[in-house]
Amino acid sequence: MSGTAEPIEAGLTEQERAEIDAWLTRFPDSPEGKRSAVIPALHIVQHNSGGWLPRARMDAVAEYLELAPTRVYEVATFYGMFDVEPVGRHKVNICTNISCMLRGSNEIVAYAEKKLGIRLGETTSDGRITLKREEECLAACAGAPMMLVDEVYYTELTPEKIDQILDELE
Ligand code: FES
Repeated sequence: MSGTAEPIEAGLTEQERAEIDAWLTRFPDSPEGKRSAVIPALHIVQHNSGGWLPRARMDAVAEYLELAPTRVYEVATFYGMFDVEPVGRHKVNICTNISCMLRGSNEIVAYAEKKLGIRLGETTSDGRITLKREEECLAACAGAPMMLVDEVYYTELTPEKIDQILDELE
């Protein structure tokens, strides 16, 4: 993740179009199939846009998939894995759903907030880390409490592990 506030470019790159086309082959050649491709398309674009989805980039996805822009905005704002505001270079999602909560995720969140000097939903002043509000189960309950940092899962969190993981993020 590059963590830049500005997108590389507003439209889709050739590479992005090719990646979206590859996803489209997995779905029916129909409007429904194109709607199914919105999630992977947004993942591709977000990955290349500093970890978030500028409006112009979502519009480019909508145009490419021949969908109403509002359809794409709905998906982007519904799922916690997408961000429509600038984020830090790293996104830290500490799961606070039921299994993680029962195993101390609230204490882990409080520890991370204190360590970073920010609250959930905020970004450190140096642009290094965004502490995301994560209410969905991240599907690794066996390792609760757990967190997702960018695209890597960390399980059985303790304050010591939080120190080690966060200190290693550039
Ligand atoms: S509740 Fe946290 S991973 Fe499922």
